[in-house]
Amino acid sequence: MTKITISPERRMGRINRNIYGHFSEHLGRCIYGGIFVGENSTIPNENGMRRDVVDALRKIRIPVLRWPGGCFADEYHWQDGIGPKENRKRMVNTNWGYVVEDNSFGTHEFLELCRQLECEPYINANVGSGTVREMAEWVEYLNSEGDSSVVRTRWANGRKEPFGVRFWGVGNESWGCGGNMRPEYYADEFRRYQTYCRDYGDNKLFRIACGPNTDDYRWTEVLMQQAGRFMNGLTLHYYSITGPDWEHKGQALTFTEEEYYELLFRASRMDEFVTGHSRIMDRYDPEHRVGLIVDEWGTWHQVEAGTNPGFLYQQNTMRDAMVAAMHLNIFNRHCDRVIMANLAQTVNVLQSVILTEGAKMVLTPTYHVFDLYKAHQDAELVDCYLSTDRIGGRWPVDRITASASVRDGVVTLTMANLSMEEDEEVSVVLPGKGQASARILTGDAKAYNDFDHAPVQIASFDDLVTEDDVIRVRMPRCSVIELTRHA
Ligand code: AHR
Repeated sequence: MTKITISPERRMGRINRNIYGHFSEHLGRCIYGGIFVGENSTIPNENGMRRDVVDALRKIRIPVLRWPGGCFADEYHWQDGIGPKENRKRMVNTNWGYVVEDNSFGTHEFLELCRQLECEPYINANVGSGTVREMAEWVEYLNSEGDSSVVRTRWANGRKEPFGVRFWGVGNESWGCGGNMRPEYYADEFRRYQTYCRDYGDNKLFRIACGPNTDDYRWTEVLMQQAGRFMNGLTLHYYSITGPDWEHKGQALTFTEEEYYELLFRASRMDEFVTGHSRIMDRYDPEHRVGLIVDEWGTWHQVEAGTNPGFLYQQNTMRDAMVAAMHLNIFNRHCDRVIMANLAQTVNVLQSVILTEGAKMVLTPTYHVFDLYKAHQDAELVDCYLSTDRIGGRWPVDRITASASVRDGVVTLTMANLSMEEDEEVSVVLPGKGQASARILTGDAKAYNDFDHAPVQIASFDDLVTEDDVIRVRMPRCSVIELTRHA
């Protein structure tokens, strides 16, 4: 049996809503087809953005969206994507499938998307093949009111008011696809780039430095030591895979019990990486001025058979939902340092929350996890002590993962039973008023939603008994529950 003890009076910090952020790159069918179809499409749209996709993302209250990459960011030249569409420069997307990028989705379109989503934009600028001037002028174009030629171009493109974009990433994976730099070199580049990214008016830029890959603690050490005082955020990228290496990754839909636990075990290492990088940051930044931003995370499987290998299209099962539930609990619990996280990627790429095929759209099990967790956005993390056993054999993970928060007098507990086969009795000590209520997402580990059949859905859940301060829950195997009670 698992016991969870929640102490609503023990507040542990605010869960920044941006932990529930997303990432959309010019990659495969994420932007084109998945989000943006153009104004002339027969697919219902508003200014070119798919209505169904925008509505679905609004429902989970998407707080922030990162764009345009990813690796693509370091080959992207923003001036190619503004002005009349017929004049926009064409390029070949050499990172992702060598397809033609016609730049019909550019800066204004991205900001229109964020307007419709009511979310904050997070722009990742080009350091690898760009220039300081290019980035500085992008910031000026979007944020300045001054009567400069750059700003006049914005006016000519139909926008008088500045957009006031706050979040700016300086390069992406600069240790890899963003230029194969060494941390000492990148630290200097970051210092130089950020110098010329000016604050305009009341808008104070939030300068985000490229952080480490996975467990590259040396990168974090060098960056914090040499450039820590110039940054507001430092990124971390970590993807969960199965198999011996990236070349031989496992499949999204076909996996053994051992591969089920392998993926969960690897995903659980996010806690180790966040803890390790946070410890280094604590030494240089004990006041927690610099936030850790996990702006790429999620599962990465083999692409679906018959799809372009450069498009990274994969299906999404309850196993992926378990990974999402576990990660979001980890981020909540580290909300003293983790201030933003961005799942890769929103639509049709990697661990998407939405898949599309022409006019059809389907919500993945991962989408529903974000729905179950949305009450945590901007809530206060509360102490949540967990006593559970380890399962998974060679790939050990906690049977139950959980986190809890309080907001407007309501405590929300999110928990996942990671066991592939076994239900679990969970005793939740949660002082409060009245009955607890709950919603659940559950299914076979291999269950998934497709365009013609979508069996994985949230349901209300009543297999629980409230006795004073104790709530007894029988959690089905492979399930995620949101449980709420008035404090
Ligand atoms: O999300 C796909 C790719 O993974 C991104 O472009 C890159 O930053 C990372 O390696």
